[in-house]
Amino acid sequence: MADIVLGGQWGDEGKAKIIDFLSVKYDVIVRYQGGANAGHTVETGGKKYVFHLIPSGILYPNKICVLGNGVVIDIDELDKEITQLSSQGIDIGDRLKISSQAFVVFPFHKSMDAARDTLRMHNIGTTGRGIGPAYSDKINRLGIRIQDLANVDLLKPLLVENLKEKQVLFEHLFHSIDKLDIDQIASEANEGYKKIIPYLANTPYLLNEYYKNNKNILFEGAQGAGLDIDFGSYPYVSSSSSSSGGAAIGSGLGVTRFRDVLGVFKTYITRVGKGYLPTILQGNDLDDLRQRGLEYGATTGRPRECGWFDGVQAKYSVMINGMTAIALTKIDVLDDYDQINFCTHYEIDGSRTNLFPISDNDIKKAKPIYRSFTGWKSRTKGITNKKDLPKPALLYLDFLEEYLETPIRYISTGPDRKDTIVV
Ligand code: IMP
Repeated sequence: MADIVLGGQWGDEGKAKIIDFLSVKYDVIVRYQGGANAGHTVETGGKKYVFHLIPSGILYPNKICVLGNGVVIDIDELDKEITQLSSQGIDIGDRLKISSQAFVVFPFHKSMDAARDTLRMHNIGTTGRGIGPAYSDKINRLGIRIQDLANVDLLKPLLVENLKEKQVLFEHLFHSIDKLDIDQIASEANEGYKKIIPYLANTPYLLNEYYKNNKNILFEGAQGAGLDIDFGSYPYVSSSSSSSGGAAIGSGLGVTRFRDVLGVFKTYITRVGKGYLPTILQGNDLDDLRQRGLEYGATTGRPRECGWFDGVQAKYSVMINGMTAIALTKIDVLDDYDQINFCTHYEIDGSRTNLFPISDNDIKKAKPIYRSFTGWKSRTKGITNKKDLPKPALLYLDFLEEYLETPIRYISTGPDRKDTIVV
């Protein structure tokens, strides 16, 4: 079986915890898009592990972890992550498989990312990890893949082609002092390549072989569906297909092979970067939820904007991803609230709608219309059985399920692997 788990909101839904919890059932865990812009934190056995590229399934001793062709790979970052995990006692051995078809994020992509975002009239607030520029090169047919790094002499002409326009941009538009030295870039990239040779694989064949041999495969989405390049709130999105459709494109396993799509949603919502969040809280309410949920980016440390659960956004997300079930996280963060709000509609230019707007201007104008629930005002942290949840929490969950017409299959009641309700 091949299942997908992905974020249903604008990222940071607590996917890592759910993926970590589910990994035990699977033999192979695959990442199919994004790059080191993702930041996953997994806490288990009193230890904290932070992941940017490698699937967190690597924490289990016998799981195979794959970085598919759809991921853009910053080799320095990957090497750091491998070293860090090894120093924390994780034996990676031959369990990591990296697609040699995946495109490379070079240091100049990161410089471009920052420079471009600064120059934009309305900046996006990217993570600065070079994601947009690396994917642009791929689409422009100028990208350089991991396999291209093997031979410096073959790599240099590719870099000459790739950097032709960038040299001009760096000099005349970004006014950067960065000198794009092709010899140096090529030799550093080749050194990086040598470090990851043991992990390289022809992953489309490998994954189809696993599938044929009845291995259970879990595809983990990075970011969230709201940041998808096609279906997200463009232009305030990332540059990859973070919705479920991306799993086939970014791995080479055909669309007919996929079974379940589990969407992870936080019991409230957050967003980082410059995109608009219709249900955003203000002032003390915002600070309060941020503190309770510890809503600071794992990759950049930036404070996240926080708001009430946005049913309009979630319903759209369920639809475009074809979600078959939901995992709801961080319910315990709302334990002390007198009242919990759930956005059922937006009001845009005086009209009420439950359709998520396709225009960025309309998203900006959307005023949330809430249905309010009595808070449960008791501790849900660490509860592992649904029937032990307080009655008001159960009423809220029933409404959420009904509104989204999708069953809640998991409820996370704390950061630890064991703080999970299986419904
Ligand atoms: P980029 O992916 O670095 O280009 O950033 C584009 C937008 O996506 C910015 O608003 C980022 O804050 C946001 N973003 C990228 N990766 C993540 C993530 O893993 N979690 C949440 N937001 C993200």
